[in-house]
Amino acid sequence: MKKILVTGGAGYIGSHALVSLIEQGFTPVIVDNLRNSDIKVVDRIAQITGVRPEAHIADIRDERALRQLFADYQFDAVIHFAGLKAVGESVAQPQRYYHNNVGGSLSLFSVMAEHDCYRLVFSSSATVYGVPESVPINETAPLCATNPYGHSKLMIEQVLHDLAEADSRWQISLLRYFNPISAHSSGLIGEDPDGVPNNLMPYISQVGIGRLKQLSVYGDDYDTPDGTGVRDYIHVVDLASAHSKALLALDVDHGCQAYNIGTGRGYSVLEMVQAFERASGQVINYQVRARRPGDIATCYADTRKSAEQLAWRAEFDLDAMMRDLWRWQSNNPSGYK
Ligand code: NAD
Ligand code: WQD
Repeated sequence: MKKILVTGGAGYIGSHALVSLIEQGFTPVIVDNLRNSDIKVVDRIAQITGVRPEAHIADIRDERALRQLFADYQFDAVIHFAGLKAVGESVAQPQRYYHNNVGGSLSLFSVMAEHDCYRLVFSSSATVYGVPESVPINETAPLCATNPYGHSKLMIEQVLHDLAEADSRWQISLLRYFNPISAHSSGLIGEDPDGVPNNLMPYISQVGIGRLKQLSVYGDDYDTPDGTGVRDYIHVVDLASAHSKALLALDVDHGCQAYNIGTGRGYSVLEMVQAFERASGQVINYQVRARRPGDIATCYADTRKSAEQLAWRAEFDLDAMMRDLWRWQSNNPSGYK
């Protein structure tokens, strides 16, 4: 299994997965509409790996374009990252999210089946666990979404379970990412959010570089050790390496399997601020504000299934995550622009 179509491969996680796939001897081909990414990323991947991946600018809802790609390349498998991911935006524009994420996925799965390509690794999210009843969360926990983005992930998971049930040729991994952060150690690729970041670490690093003035800490009255929210932050390079492991596991795994991709350990917002300050030498100005609607207190993964069945585990610790994040942010103060 060598030739892999990577939808959304120019994006934050996709670009790191490209590096990992190339290093593991796969031939990944990008399809991306560049809605939330920059084509410069292809040069950066080439600089890191010495291999320039082929990249096609197209929307996955364009079935004609997808058919042409499958005819040209005869892919062995697909890694499907393409999607919109901003929770708040999904509440304001649900139709756009369902159309892009669910509609795009349905087009992709049809074209895959037309071309006898039944191996798929899908980017799901810990958001499908909604408000967890207990932590660490394992893959059999009840599923529930609290916003259109989360619903779109749950719907796609359901579609994939049903496809695998109906046709035993499908071999599918649902990777439920916890909180990806940081950047490749080269400082050449990283997260480059459009506008003001929604997520904690890009916000902190933009305060660190002086693009933003102050971090709002959303609530310090949660039932957690210091009162601020606790999450399972994972180095994006660790997350990326789970994809080649998942591709290899598809050879033995039939049906549709879900895997948590996290470290199994949680850190609070204030611990993240302190760790960033240690790594960067910058002081992060912050103010505690009201809780953000929809946030939960604590979320971290039970990682036993991915360790046992994918032979994968996260390796980078918090200091490494912060060091690599700061290298990316300080080398690229305005991202790819
Ligand atoms: P990203 O926005 O950086 O990457 C997504 C890529 O998909 C972008 O390059 C975008 O241009 C492309 N894209 C979007 N819609 C498309 C379409 N219709 N056709 C072609 N290309 C399209 O996001 P990311 O952080 O790299 O996330 C990748 C995947 O992982 C997404 O599916 C996201 O929902 C999921 N995920 C992300 C996180 C996170 O915190 N970053 C957490 C859990 C799951
Ligand atoms: C982390 C912690 C905030 C920003 C989101 C999506 C989820 C997934 C990952 C895609 C929380 C606090 C944040 C800020 C803060 N994405 N915070 N000030 O909410 O765990 O998950 O991204 O699938 O679906 O919901 O991540 O980074 O936004 O927040 O205090 O400016 O940081 O309250 O405790 P979250 P996050």
